Amino acid sequence: MKIISNPLELKEYLKNNNKTVGFIPTMGALHEGHISLINRASEENELVVVSIFVNPTQFLKGEDLDNYPSREQADKKICSFAGVDVLFYPNADDIYTSDEVSVQAPNVRGYVLEGRSRPGHFSGVLTVVMKLLNIVSPTRAYFGKKDAQQLNLITLMVKQLFMSVEIVPVDTVREADGLALSSRNIYLNEYDRKEALKISASLHVCSRMVSKNILDTKEIIASMRETLYPLEIAYVEILNRNFEKIEQVEIGDSVILVEAIAGETRLLDNIWL
Ligand code: PAF
Repeated sequence: MKIISNPLELKEYLKNNNKTVGFIPTMGALHEGHISLINRASEENELVVVSIFVNPTQFLKGEDLDNYPSREQADKKICSFAGVDVLFYPNADDIYTSDEVSVQAPNVRGYVLEGRSRPGHFSGVLTVVMKLLNIVSPTRAYFGKKDAQQLNLITLMVKQLFMSVEIVPVDTVREADGLALSSRNIYLNEYDRKEALKISASLHVCSRMVSKNILDTKEIIASMRETLYPLEIAYVEILNRNFEKIEQVEIGDSVILVEAIAGETRLLDNIWL
């Protein structure tokens, strides 16, 4: 596995390779969820590139940028075992200067749900993803469905800015007890982790109701909120795949999203029905 930290060196290395390139942007602290993205990229492309970069512009003041889990050696081993061809491992000053052009998240879709409690977060995400996609020029880029709003906004950016990359959504990987994998799960103590299971349990409540043909979104959200009690809820929403509110679940076109806080850790989860 080749490890490169300089963006121009990586661009040069990948230039004229005449191979399909699958790209997985990450912030490190890699887990099975990332490995499933790498595996999918390996199946569908001739060359697999992973980036590890904890992007400062997507963290708000007071968030966990300085404490974000960092496991450089373990991450490099995971990438190498998983068959990654090139690992891009830049520093912040390889990516950003002091006076920057940036991507602005859309005023509505970028500032609802997670964007409401983290205003500006998605502008930071879109800016770094734009930079990374321009550096790697992949055929396909792989993103987890767990970060559904991020995935939706990146797909929108690629479409609206006429970019030439296919965005591939990949299913969420869960622990045996249902907890969606996240690099932030390591912040959970034993009690909070148990409480956090209410998030996937609430999504189960939703699928059970839908399987009984209860499709009214208000009724479903009320039952989900009961299941989540006493967790602090940031939002429970049922949207269509364009991220617009709906009154009835439409099978094949709905996303059910939850963000709740266990202890001090914000956790996201969702299912696509
Ligand atoms: O999902 C993530 O890990 C990050 O938001 C991403 C897409 C790598 C951008 O920093």
